Amino acid sequence: MKPFPFLRSAIGVCLVAAAHQLSAETVWVDTLDLKTAIQDYGTATSKVSLDGNPLMIAGRTFARGFATHAEGWLAIQLDGKARTFSAQVGIDDEVKGKPGGTAEFVVLGDEVKLWSSGLMRLGDAAKTCEVPLAGVKRLELVVTDGEDNNYYDHANWAEAKIETDGATTFATIARISGVPYILTPPAPASPRINGASVFGVRPGSPFLFTVPVTGQRPMTFSASGLPEGLQINAQSGRITGRLAVAGTFAVTLRAENALGRAEKKFRIICGERIALTPPMGWNSWNCFAGEVTADRVKRAADTLVKTGLINHGWTYINVDDFWQNHRGSKDPTLTGPTRDAQGNIQPNVRFGDMKALADYVHELGLKIGLYSSPGPWTCGGCAGSYGHELQDAQAYAEWGFDYLKYDWCSYGGIADGLAADDPKVPSVHWGKGESDLAIAQAPYALMGEALHRQPRDIVYSLCQYGMSDVWKWGDTVGGHSWRTTNDISGTWKSMSGIALAQDKAAPFAQPGNWNDPDMLILGYIGWGNPQPTRLTPDEQYLHFSLWCLFSSPLLIGCDMEKLDDFTLSLLTNDEVIAINQDPLGRQATCVDTVGDVRVYLKKLEDGSVAVGFCNFGRQPAELKYERFAHLGLSGRHTVRDLWRQQEVGTIEAGRDGWPLTIPTHGIVLVKIAPVPVPPAQASATPAPASTKLPAKP
Ligand code: GAL
Repeated sequence: MKPFPFLRSAIGVCLVAAAHQLSAETVWVDTLDLKTAIQDYGTATSKVSLDGNPLMIAGRTFARGFATHAEGWLAIQLDGKARTFSAQVGIDDEVKGKPGGTAEFVVLGDEVKLWSSGLMRLGDAAKTCEVPLAGVKRLELVVTDGEDNNYYDHANWAEAKIETDGATTFATIARISGVPYILTPPAPASPRINGASVFGVRPGSPFLFTVPVTGQRPMTFSASGLPEGLQINAQSGRITGRLAVAGTFAVTLRAENALGRAEKKFRIICGERIALTPPMGWNSWNCFAGEVTADRVKRAADTLVKTGLINHGWTYINVDDFWQNHRGSKDPTLTGPTRDAQGNIQPNVRFGDMKALADYVHELGLKIGLYSSPGPWTCGGCAGSYGHELQDAQAYAEWGFDYLKYDWCSYGGIADGLAADDPKVPSVHWGKGESDLAIAQAPYALMGEALHRQPRDIVYSLCQYGMSDVWKWGDTVGGHSWRTTNDISGTWKSMSGIALAQDKAAPFAQPGNWNDPDMLILGYIGWGNPQPTRLTPDEQYLHFSLWCLFSSPLLIGCDMEKLDDFTLSLLTNDEVIAINQDPLGRQATCVDTVGDVRVYLKKLEDGSVAVGFCNFGRQPAELKYERFAHLGLSGRHTVRDLWRQQEVGTIEAGRDGWPLTIPTHGIVLVKIAPVPVPPAQASATPAPASTKLPAKP
């Protein structure tokens, strides 16, 4: 039997907690430490469903067992002391009426599949799982999303228990995935100006751009060519002010410290288009989900500065769902009026003063975003903007927000003709928007117009999962970015599946319009239960590189206070980020496939190309790449390894093949630039290709 692919990464054994003993022969899994379980939503619960109800599968209740969510994983160290594992598995009845609710339950022993439920749907009777475990050292209980998506996949392992050979205690296992290796060289101590080289602003809007510079502090900043109305603060490097009239302004930015000085050309384009390079920042959803608070948001902002991420261009601090009050939660911090008597949206008590929060973030030189839905309710069931679009846009502008993520969710009920106050309006429902273009566009055009009327620039991010090919019309409703797929979850399968689905939207990427494959799943993520990412280090290199090649908005989704050196190294490679921020604004597409290796190419403003050789296969790939015509290359080129920030030599397209070794689920990311041929040498015989990329450490 094949090892289960979801679990091929190395497993680090960390004995976390001992089980309680029920009898010498039976260990109930619901007595183990379930905190080590990994799942795409919520936390594993003992003896109750994910939402805290009695465990119930197709009308049958169970007193024992545990509940998880696809994609879910729990591992138990057995050391050969168990005889059998048994359980009654199925989808919990609590998700009745919701979309999704399909999963497959899989049992693995020492990475070998021992049992599978097959695809299970809501309403299917519980299936009996009985697995002999003689000699098995490590048991893994896995729930996959059933090959669709993970929506409402509330999955119960009811009556889960292990019969033992005298052992009275077992421990669950925390997973680590591979040994991280850092390629990003440390930034020099002398100043280096990073980040975007072009910036868009509308006439009259407040201007804020913090020049991102690495290097030792203290540092002084200056700029020449700044148009009237703008000034730079010499200590903080922040450019502020307002521009009265449209125009393009060529500016030179300068930074100086005791060790040297740096200079960079910068274009300010004052006109109707903003977000001229993909927005970069942090969003609360992938780590805190419904547990977000103003305090956590402030700490994320503080950390973005303290870790130096701000010096690499990271700018936005985005509050996702759950800053508003909820339609029916019993949590006192989410209970309260959704709007006041005048219809003004009310933040919940976790947030209180939204203006104070925005001021706090701006004081740090950063920008701030938030989230709403065109329906009466957001996806999490909090107050949406339906019927209050202009009023909400005004509130966001008055508070000082710079970014809005606008979700679809309960608008599906409106699209289907339900009244906004109808209690049947579901929180998550696609409705006719999926088939009717005018219905799909209407709520986004309405909010787009409301935002456009505000006297400040608000980046408008459409979050409707790619319905009705949003990339074809997102620009016409005022959008600056749009999600192209369903939510990313924390797995290789989800990330790679999303990556492979991007090409269709690529021609629509341009300055001010970005296809959004969803947030980064690096660092500690976990929708209310942050755990280290399940991606291996190679998968993380591939993930970040691809999002850069795709010109995707880069939104860190992790708990910022748990950033480790490796994750930080992935987020601070200025040459890799420069690919994302390239002013030409093209999106890479797959231009060639060699076995499991897909070759993604992005054209850059300076005439060079960024190329990612991406190995989606399960083995390291060794190849001699020869099909330079697929890359549009002829003649002699220099090759630069972007992660290592090193020149690796030259290639002569059409001559020798180029030897490449690409790790499993990894990437070789290079920049290839033509070598100008001086006329006198044009006919001389070119030297053979000399490029050999360094091997992975
Ligand atoms: C989803 C969206 C997520 C998050 C969530 C909040 O629809 O895709 O990114 O915003 O809603 O409830």
